[in-house]
Amino acid sequence: MDSPTIRISQMVHHEGLQVQLNGWLYNSRTGGKVLFLLIRDGSGICQAVLEKTADNESLFEAVKRLGQESALKVRGRVRRDPRSPGGYELAVGDVEIVHQTQDYPITPKSHGTDFLLRHRHLHLRSSKQWSIARVRHTIVQAIRDFFNDNGFTLVDTPIFAPAAGEGAQTLFNVDYFGQPVALAQTGQLYLEAAALSLGKVYCFGPTFRAEKSKTRRHLTEFWMVEPEIAYIDLPGLLEIAEQFVSYIVRQVLTQNRPELEILQRGTSDLEKIQPPFVRLSYSDAVELLRSDRVKTFLENQLREKQNQVSELEKSIVQWTEESGAAKKEWQKEKFAQQIQSAREEIAELNEQISNIPHHMELAANFEWGKDLGGSDETIISLLHDRPVFVHRYPKEAKAFYMKPDPADPRVVLNFDCLAPSGYGEIIGGSAREDDYDALLNRIRQMGFNEDDYQWYLDLRRYGSVPHGGFGLGVERTVAWLAGIKHIRETIAFPRMMGKIYP
Ligand code: 4AD
Ligand code: MG
Repeated sequence: MDSPTIRISQMVHHEGLQVQLNGWLYNSRTGGKVLFLLIRDGSGICQAVLEKTADNESLFEAVKRLGQESALKVRGRVRRDPRSPGGYELAVGDVEIVHQTQDYPITPKSHGTDFLLRHRHLHLRSSKQWSIARVRHTIVQAIRDFFNDNGFTLVDTPIFAPAAGEGAQTLFNVDYFGQPVALAQTGQLYLEAAALSLGKVYCFGPTFRAEKSKTRRHLTEFWMVEPEIAYIDLPGLLEIAEQFVSYIVRQVLTQNRPELEILQRGTSDLEKIQPPFVRLSYSDAVELLRSDRVKTFLENQLREKQNQVSELEKSIVQWTEESGAAKKEWQKEKFAQQIQSAREEIAELNEQISNIPHHMELAANFEWGKDLGGSDETIISLLHDRPVFVHRYPKEAKAFYMKPDPADPRVVLNFDCLAPSGYGEIIGGSAREDDYDALLNRIRQMGFNEDDYQWYLDLRRYGSVPHGGFGLGVERTVAWLAGIKHIRETIAFPRMMGKIYP
């Protein structure tokens, strides 16, 4: 009898029926005359149970010998079973071995971060990476839907960029038939031109920054979505940004509960995300950073983290003893895994602990006029349970195209959106300088080549209007929503300083 091929995610609709699953062996264990196979097929994981009978002995033995990640097709009957990961398991009648694999390098044993990054092409098959990829997919879809449903037109902007869009320090230079050009840091300048044609536009693509810092927030290649709107002011931009971020969060909560569970990402904080977000002027942020409230907060953090470390150290001692007493190999493996991740957590906590005094000093002595640093953003975002818009930064700390505030020309009409729980900046945006002379002055002050910006100045020569927009970094948004500490986990093949393989 022919069985229809279905995906594991569809098993719920096939209870009691014969089906075929095409997938890979994630794990297997034997209970004497029964084999419990964990099969993954890209849509989910399910348990498939093969019983040894008088007629299937050689098949049973062959399947029993299959290594992790062997490819196989299994046919059988779907039955409900709460012990199977998706709630349904397959009572296997037949197995077709497509590819036998032995010695798959990534075992259920734990591996260090470097090893996993070098094996990223395989590590993508792990439940964790699978879950992150699906959350990322939802976020990308939500981004497109939000703008498409709100009257924005997609405009693709160039990657080869003859002039700097943000700071000149982070340009990647390439040789363009003998002419030096850079890879795009932003699509914004081109998008401004498009906004004066179409009114509301967005671009969505990869952007490049030669970030020489190895932080958990920086990649050299990342994806950014940038809306740009004609006839808008700063308050109008903030309203769109908070609607937009709230929409993305809701989509992830609606579509990715199982993935968030695998990632052990609690959702109570995300349920609360809705407009209005907190609005905090840069000057008030500076006051906050220097206040006793921040000092006390950081002192508490220090104590809390020290306690966490000693708890973890106790657990390691206990697990080591229990592992020594354990009889089964899989039990020992499980302890080894727990110990390894506890060690990694301790290393991370110790690093944070050693940084706190420095961060306290930076905050306490923060001088009006500087850009907020990563640790300052972390502190502000930890002090709020909703995203925070920090607005009106000092002009000197920000990009040349930002419009000064007529009420206080020392600051510009810009904002950063800081995600809560210490995730920091996910959006940067501003009203743009729309006056020809003022913009030309800024370009000269920056020491840029005026000729490169003539087309951009034209936008202020012909039908110039107040306009503005912002850019949201996809990877930082994924990190926040999926609860991932390091941004390198949020894109399939991360590009960072010193890391370009595979
Ligand atoms: O704040 P940024 O530099 O703003 C711009 O590029 C503007 N031209 C956007 C605009 O107004 N149209 O970058 C925007 C966002 C940041 O908030 C952050 O989320 C992300 O892009 N981002 C990075 N993500 C990962 N790695 C990096 N090196 C990043 N640099 C910026
Ligand atoms: Mg920024």
